[in-house]
Amino acid sequence: MSYETILVEQRGAVTLVTLNRPQALNALNSAVLADLLDAFAKFDADASQGCAVLTGGEKAFAAGADIKEMSSQGFADMYGSNFFAGWEGFTRTRKPVIAAVAGFALGGGCELAMMCDFILAADTAKFGQPEVKLAVAPGMGGSQRLARAVGKAKAMDMCLTGRMMGAEEAERAGLVSRIVPAADLVEEAVKTAATIAGMAPLSVLANKELVNAAFETTLAQGVQFERRLFHGLFGTADQKEGMAAFVEKRPGNWTGK
Ligand code: HXC
Repeated sequence: MSYETILVEQRGAVTLVTLNRPQALNALNSAVLADLLDAFAKFDADASQGCAVLTGGEKAFAAGADIKEMSSQGFADMYGSNFFAGWEGFTRTRKPVIAAVAGFALGGGCELAMMCDFILAADTAKFGQPEVKLAVAPGMGGSQRLARAVGKAKAMDMCLTGRMMGAEEAERAGLVSRIVPAADLVEEAVKTAATIAGMAPLSVLANKELVNAAFETTLAQGVQFERRLFHGLFGTADQKEGMAAFVEKRPGNWTGK
């Protein structure tokens, strides 16, 4: 399947999606959203695929929502069309998605990276929510996800000043899981994704659902939900296989059942 604004490639069980509007530093317009929604729906539906990587270019993961597309819109246009609500569809991807970020991840670009399950950063990565400089505010979840990822002090600092945060600060703050040299970023992300894709598929879905629940529930509800899903996994053939394989000192052979 070919798209106007993204490249999609399967590497074994890993789907690699590359934002491809280099002339606009991968600014996220409606065409990018439509392409991503289609590609990630297909990824989720394809049983041969276990994990995805979303990346951009060397200079920019994405420099934000497309300012040129938004600039002339009024309140009625934005509210009436529920502008940006479509991105919620991306967050409903059930299988894991790793963001591999090099260069600028600003505004909507930072927000898109945070919609992924975790972020691998190149040493060149720069994150920011500079919307305040445009006299607006984050609109794709940035204020909420950044606050949850790095805490109030740093989220306020980033949103109110619009400053950028480099890879090291982002790692210290817990925004990214780790930093890799820019030249190795995609390879390392695909390798990590392949590791995930090699796990029993239902347990991968469950683990993602559980960590996400930590951001939506009380501790008691979350722990209860975890225990129930944990119990539920004992109804799968792969649980029997996984534990037998451990005892027999061999790799598991998953059926996804
Ligand atoms: C549309 C963009 C863009 C964007 C860059 N471009 N960012 N077009 N929307 N978000 C375009 C530029 O207009 C330019 O096109 C080309 O990409 C190259 O960018 P330059 O600015 O020439 O590159 P450089 O000087 O290297 O500066 C890089 C940069 C800068 C620091 C990343 O581009 C920048 O500040 N971009 C905007 C970042 C931003 O404010 N993002 C938040 C957007 S709002 P031409 O045609 O001139 O060559 C958002 C939140 C949405 O995301 C929710 C609230 C509404």
